Amino acid sequence: MYTKYSIEEIKEKLKCTLNEERFLHSIGTMEKAAELAKEFGCDVEKAQIAGLLHDCAKCLSKEEMEKMQHTFEDCEKLSVKTWHAPIGAYTAENDYGVTDKEILSAIRWHTIGKKNMTDFEKIVFLADKIEERTREEKYRSKIEKTLKKTHNLDNAMLKSFKLTIKSLLKRKLPICYQTIDVYNDLLEKVQF
Ligand SMILES: [Fe+2]
Ligand SMILES: [Fe+2]
Repeated sequence: MYTKYSIEEIKEKLKCTLNEERFLHSIGTMEKAAELAKEFGCDVEKAQIAGLLHDCAKCLSKEEMEKMQHTFEDCEKLSVKTWHAPIGAYTAENDYGVTDKEILSAIRWHTIGKKNMTDFEKIVFLADKIEERTREEKYRSKIEKTLKKTHNLDNAMLKSFKLTIKSLLKRKLPICYQTIDVYNDLLEKVQF
């Protein structure tokens, strides 16, 4: 048991807090996480729960999120877009009764990532980027291609980080130093 709620109950609860687009994205992430879990030998139900809940705090107001600043890494304070990850892990534990530490950790690190993530955490991270219900084909296909070609999660993670860093540069947005750290770490690990 990873939570006291069933997947259907979590969906119902989520529907009340997320907008339609975000809800659809969460369903897509759940489906993709399950697919990747099967492919890479992780627990499918656990991946479904993490995928479904990864953005559970995404639709909170900035004011509500600011109250939780003590849970943020220093570098996360730079970008409002990253705040829903630490708050999401807190919400998943407290409002959705998630007791599994790896699910909570996958939610916690699904935005900026961290070094030495487990395969399970990588699967949830990637599912968020390549789910097919709301992610643009142009963006997700680049990561999917890498995954299909290499069958290696680190290669796909590196591709995802490259795309994120490029996009942040293009939009003149701040880059969290942990993102660069993870990028450098992945660069050392990948098999070309
Ligand atoms: Fe997110
Ligand atoms: Fe997401």
